[in-house]
Amino acid sequence: MAVSEALTKTNRSITTWTTIEAILYKLFFNRYTLILFYAFWFLFGVLVLRKTQNAIAAVRYVKSHSESVSLSSIENSQEFAHLIKTLDKKFPKPPAIFLLNQYALNMTDNFLCNTATLSGVHERFIFVTLDTIARDTIKKRWPDIQQFHWPTSSLYKPFSFAEGAYQIIYLLRSNLAIALIKKGKSFWMMQQDTYWRKNIFDMNYEDNMSYDAIFDQLGSDEEQSMRKEWVNGANFFIRANNDTQLFFERMSDKLAHWYTPDMGVMIHQCHTWKKPVCAYIPHKVVYSWEWMFTEQKDPPYLMQLDCETDGGSKLMQLGRYGFHFVNPDGSCNNEKVALAKAKMENGTVEVKMTKMLPSWGRLQFKAYWYIVDYMLWTPIIGEYLKPYLALVGFILMITI
Ligand SMILES: *[C@@H]1O[C@H](CO)[C@@H](O)[C@H](O)[C@H]1NC(C)=O
Ligand SMILES: *[C@@H]1O[C@H](CO)[C@@H](O)[C@H](O)[C@H]1NC(C)=O
Ligand SMILES: *[C@@H]1O[C@H](CO)[C@@H](O)[C@H](O)[C@H]1NC(C)=O
Ligand SMILES: *[C@@H]1O[C@H](CO)[C@@H](O)[C@H](O)[C@H]1NC(C)=O
Repeated sequence: MAVSEALTKTNRSITTWTTIEAILYKLFFNRYTLILFYAFWFLFGVLVLRKTQNAIAAVRYVKSHSESVSLSSIENSQEFAHLIKTLDKKFPKPPAIFLLNQYALNMTDNFLCNTATLSGVHERFIFVTLDTIARDTIKKRWPDIQQFHWPTSSLYKPFSFAEGAYQIIYLLRSNLAIALIKKGKSFWMMQQDTYWRKNIFDMNYEDNMSYDAIFDQLGSDEEQSMRKEWVNGANFFIRANNDTQLFFERMSDKLAHWYTPDMGVMIHQCHTWKKPVCAYIPHKVVYSWEWMFTEQKDPPYLMQLDCETDGGSKLMQLGRYGFHFVNPDGSCNNEKVALAKAKMENGTVEVKMTKMLPSWGRLQFKAYWYIVDYMLWTPIIGEYLKPYLALVGFILMITI
């Protein structure tokens, strides 16, 4: 009796619903909507499982290969002792460290052609070559560039974002950072997929003692983005001291055991630790390739060209925008370097969108950051989430 009474009551109240509510009710309990609803969660579940599988595979890969990039193996090596000697003798200012294997040679060549036009820049570079082909090719073509040869068999292949090898390279970078800091060496960590319009070393970021580390940042000034002061992690300066040592020791710990991007760890630690003091390079000095899609005002010194993730097509993509500087015969095309500079300063870099559509990579990138932005805009929770969100970056990027 009680049940049927309740049902009649419900029925009566349904009739008093406004039309909008009735439509919503219908929509929600419509059979097809239900099927869609379940299909969505089914797909979501499949994606989560896939991500979990990837994460487990990557963490396993790191565990089984981490010895080859460990701190003790670096510190106890002849090669590292030699590197410290070179730094003492030939580097009055902090070096800039780059990593590469043979699959990044074309991109590296492009970058060296670009930076060869700026005086005194190559003298500050140390290239960490991860295989003999990379070492020998660079030595032959650019004999003046200092090298730290660290053959790492787990990195003898092309790798893409979020794979185990990607984690290994960041673990190596972090352990090398600790080793250098322990020797009292401050340094820049940099990436070759960057166009240098001007020499960033002219900014003398090393001399400003108000911070311990200064990072390039994600996001942009234009959007008033919530992602301001988010470490991008492609180009940054670290001053050697006890606080930065702890910063990288904790980072190595995390990279060795967790499936998380290194920039996620940097963001987290910079936003939740009191020391080291993190600072951020303004977008006027270092910007991502997103700059080309803005009004192209205030051309940055450095523009990181992180548009496509795979090496081969990335260079082709850069060619389309006018940032490919190597002639077919392998020589440098200095006119093209100068033209790229002029176009940036003129604000007239031509951004050709293939078939009038943005590239898949760009679309994915945008979609991801919009989601993150909206999550950060959530009142109260947003502020709280900020340092943690980047840690789960790999999980959120469902399209990988
Ligand atoms: C040093 O860095 C801080 C923080 O980025 C900045 O506010 C200040 O202007 C810099 N000082 C000099 C002399 O450049
Ligand atoms: C840094 O750490 C070392 C060894 O733990 C210690 O001897 C030194 O006093 C510390 N330096 C500073 C400035 O705290
Ligand atoms: C690098 O460039 C050379 C010459 O343009 C090409 O033959 C080679 O396939 C490229 N390598 C990669 C890994 O893209
Ligand atoms: C600079 O801009 C002007 C006007 O938009 C254009 O005519 C010229 O070709 C541009 N120069 C370069 C080097 O792009």
